[in-house]
Amino acid sequence: MYISQRARNMEPSATLAVTAKAKSLKREGKPVISFGAGEPDFDSPASAIRYAEEAMKGGQTHYTPGIGIPELREQVCAYYKDRFGLEYSPADVVVGSGAKPLLYEALGCIIDPGDEVLVFTPAWVSYVEQIRFFDGVPVLVDTSKTDFIPRIVDVKKAVTPKTRAMILNNPSNPTGAIYDEECLRDLGKLAVEHNIAIIYDEIYERLVYCGEKHHQILNIVPEARDLTIIINGVSKAFAMTGWRIGYALGPSKMMSYIGDLQGHITSNASSVAQWASVGALKEADEDVKTMHKAFSARRDLTVSLMKEMPYITFTEPKGAFYVWFNVDQAIGKSWKGQKITDDAELCKIVLEAKYVALVPGSAFMSPGHVRISYSNSEEEIREGLGRFKEFLEELE
Ligand SMILES: Cc1ncc(COP(=O)(O)O)c(C=O)c1O
Repeated sequence: MYISQRARNMEPSATLAVTAKAKSLKREGKPVISFGAGEPDFDSPASAIRYAEEAMKGGQTHYTPGIGIPELREQVCAYYKDRFGLEYSPADVVVGSGAKPLLYEALGCIIDPGDEVLVFTPAWVSYVEQIRFFDGVPVLVDTSKTDFIPRIVDVKKAVTPKTRAMILNNPSNPTGAIYDEECLRDLGKLAVEHNIAIIYDEIYERLVYCGEKHHQILNIVPEARDLTIIINGVSKAFAMTGWRIGYALGPSKMMSYIGDLQGHITSNASSVAQWASVGALKEADEDVKTMHKAFSARRDLTVSLMKEMPYITFTEPKGAFYVWFNVDQAIGKSWKGQKITDDAELCKIVLEAKYVALVPGSAFMSPGHVRISYSNSEEEIREGLGRFKEFLEELE
């Protein structure tokens, strides 16, 4: 069968690949500790489960409106009003099967072939692949020399008449960086000046630490409202990755195109999961706070253990649940005769030798780095990082 050029050009998700390999080793009985997945290990909130049960018993098991049940879209508007003081109406909200398909649909409604989209690297694995799928051109702006905060001079240089959108991921996966007000103001103003859409992926907005504050870009640059599509969802902060619910908010006209595109792909997100998300947004705020506290302690533990490791350097993360570290000093060394040629090889050897799963930085368009996700118990963090330290100490 002929396989399209588009499909052949696609790189599979590295994070899903690492997770799958770790799971398969685990099934073989190996004592794997996976720092691969961006997935909280907590149970989903009780309110989500209760709402889902009630929905199933009450017969809410059919197609829903393509853009999502009104009850959930209303809750999303209430959340944005409460948390950021932003007024949206349910018609400006599309509920999707996770944040990921919403990003894809938003890009599909923005990009014509050859159009450019600014992506700040290191960047989450799917942005570039999704842009390419619509024959768009990802234009990468490296932020690694400025503590992962884009510098406006670099961004200005990357803008051309073909620039249609910029994707901002704040807090960032994989770096854990939080964009400051000045950076957001500069980027927002630049977008307004050049009529560039802003895709504002704030899926980790509840997960910020060290007294830092997450900024909603529209509170800083309200004039960018007609150009901004906000992406969020219950996956990370509410520990609901498997329910697959995300939401997008933006200008009505654009949202209606996104809704139409979704109508041709998934029809709608799972009805039961949408009801679970109503329960989460209505009643799970305390659960989010409790999980946040645990994440904060895990972050501190991970950072302190990593500071004791040889050959790695990193900027301390302030948000999300990742530590992004440089492994240049380990590249070129050997472990028991196996040469570490690059970040991917390092991750491969660590998994096979110590059963510790990490994600190579090349997947985030930034070779020479590795990402660790600390969404594991403290016990697992101690054990897994202990093994990783041992590995680094054994390098020759
Ligand atoms: C930056 C970022 N955006 C979007 C997503 C997708 O979230 P969801 O699981 O809701 O599709 C992820 C998940 O890893 C992410 O890290």
